[in-house]
Amino acid sequence: MAIPIWPITNEAINQAAQAIKAGGLIAFPTETVYGLGADATKGPAIARIFATKGRPAINPLIVHVLDVSQACQYAVFDDRARIVAHMFWPGPLTLVLPKTIHSLIHPLVTAGLETVALRSPAHPVARDLIKATGLPIAAPSANKSGRLSPTAPHHVAASLSEGVVAILAGGKSAVGLESTVLDLSGPVPAILRPGAITAQQLSAVLECDVLYDMAQPDSPKSPGQLLAHYAPSIPVRLGAVDVLPDEALLAFGSVKFMGIKGGGFAQDLPPDQFRNLSQTGDLIEAAANLFAYLNDLDNPAFKKIAVMNIPDQGLGVAINDRLKKAAGLA
Ligand code: TXA
Ligand code: MG
Repeated sequence: MAIPIWPITNEAINQAAQAIKAGGLIAFPTETVYGLGADATKGPAIARIFATKGRPAINPLIVHVLDVSQACQYAVFDDRARIVAHMFWPGPLTLVLPKTIHSLIHPLVTAGLETVALRSPAHPVARDLIKATGLPIAAPSANKSGRLSPTAPHHVAASLSEGVVAILAGGKSAVGLESTVLDLSGPVPAILRPGAITAQQLSAVLECDVLYDMAQPDSPKSPGQLLAHYAPSIPVRLGAVDVLPDEALLAFGSVKFMGIKGGGFAQDLPPDQFRNLSQTGDLIEAAANLFAYLNDLDNPAFKKIAVMNIPDQGLGVAINDRLKKAAGLA
């Protein structure tokens, strides 16, 4: 049965809050991607998230809160955590922090770790939902595990078919990539997942180097990073400088001089075979379009999705991280 999609009204938010309080699942918009939310203090509700997504239970979830004062009930904030939260919350930044001794967050959420990942989302619907429940809301992206993250209500409806009370329809996600995950549980800050808040921004605010720490084969700090992720059903070919006639093209910037092998130009490809993340080479626009366009081109009529290079700077680091995962290279 199709999951109902609810337009945003006070009534819809209150009904969604009631469903979460009763242990149900609600898909809701955030500025990064759509989340699949449940009461983070209730084991059965959290178990339902893992079952609905087909997500391995070793991969802990992010807990969504309104602000630092709510977050302090569940995690220990040191000066660094306060400073970055003050600068970037609400927004696309998740903090991994030590759990408080009496943290009410259920151990299934944290996969038994001593740390918890917390984020204060900026999307008004996410904020109203948290407010209306008065609860911490655990929410991974609202898609089947290992598939593209949803950036619009219809992506959620196409990925999940049961076990969800409703999808709150809050428009297209403005950022389009999952939040930056910053580990502040140890002495050295480390980015476990790149996102819209960049290493440069964090290092300027923390006044120290902030490094990317995405591959930790022996002791994964962010278990989710090791799992297959964001994979379209057809292969992805990175670094494309031309395109084969049976490939779809995911472009970035100008395609004026890009050829189709065997003859012709990329700009003449049929519309369903071609998407441009940003004609002007704008990384913010490209991030917002990434998952939707990969999804559009994920069509068995094509042999592969050929992807043009994205500069590996600023937000480009996060875009390239997701593209490498889509290509099975990370
Ligand atoms: O933008 C986002 O963060 C979205 C929206 C819905 O807020 N949520 C999201 O959640 O992407 P999810 O569950 O798909 O990603 C959680 C990431 C995983 O890579 C997981 O391994 C990491 O956060 N994580 C969660 N708790 C952790 C912890 N205690 N220590 C280290 N990594 C953790
Ligand atoms: Mg996810």
